[in-house]
Amino acid sequence: MKLRYQTAVTITAIALLIAGCSSSDPVEDEAPVEPHPLAGEVEQEAADDTEEETDDDHMEDDHMEAAETDDETGVLHMVAIAEMYSGDEERMGEVMFTQTEEGVEVHGRIETLDESLHGFHVHEFGECDPPDFESAGGHFNPGGHPHGAPDNPPDQRHAGDFGNLEFNEDGVAEFTFVDDVITLGAGKNDVAGKALIIHYEEDDLETQPTGDAGPRAGCGIIEASGTEDDANTDDDGQSEDAELTEDAEPTKEDAADGEELAEEDESPEN
Ligand code: CU
Ligand code: ZN
Repeated sequence: MKLRYQTAVTITAIALLIAGCSSSDPVEDEAPVEPHPLAGEVEQEAADDTEEETDDDHMEDDHMEAAETDDETGVLHMVAIAEMYSGDEERMGEVMFTQTEEGVEVHGRIETLDESLHGFHVHEFGECDPPDFESAGGHFNPGGHPHGAPDNPPDQRHAGDFGNLEFNEDGVAEFTFVDDVITLGAGKNDVAGKALIIHYEEDDLETQPTGDAGPRAGCGIIEASGTEDDANTDDDGQSEDAELTEDAEPTKEDAADGEELAEEDESPEN
């Protein structure tokens, strides 16, 4: 009752002000108006609804949160791009890195090399000084492991060992693979800011410490460009929950991705 009385007084006061003052004053008086007392309850109800809907996904949510904070794992959905340039500073293509739950997806297209296998690695320094790219240093190897094939156990390969890319008769390599040793945005094997190198020769996957892949044909710095969902992430966390729920439900797109993955990887999940 008291509140209603105050409201009435306020409205009267505003009405008087509108009548008596210049047009800008009432706006100033309206600004500090308290939110409707029911507004909080409505928000609370909405939050309760959301909680009920996501109850089934709590296990998965917890898992994802763990993945985001685990020191061994990158930032989920983080994206980075390496633009590849040759020693004479011609553009050779582009490689995109995305941190997924399974590892870092590496997807790209590189051209203008001869039809054969070419060694492909992340190198330790983010410096691509042409023409020889020696500034990039050796293979990215924070664990101090020997050089090896990408499918070796993690302690028997450099983190940066991607093996070889196969270039076709047109001198083009198009590729997509997932590497679960490297990470993006966090973790000790974080490749963001490092150099990606394509070599003139094949990596024999054995010779220490380089794989004998010959001179460096192209180089690009792996530059982080934020996360896939930066555009619709809010501070309140609620929308993030909604997104996670969305992700947890299979969509047409996921199904398509699953088919693609199934070709390369016979994982029973997909
Ligand atoms: Cu290399
Ligand atoms: Zn290596």
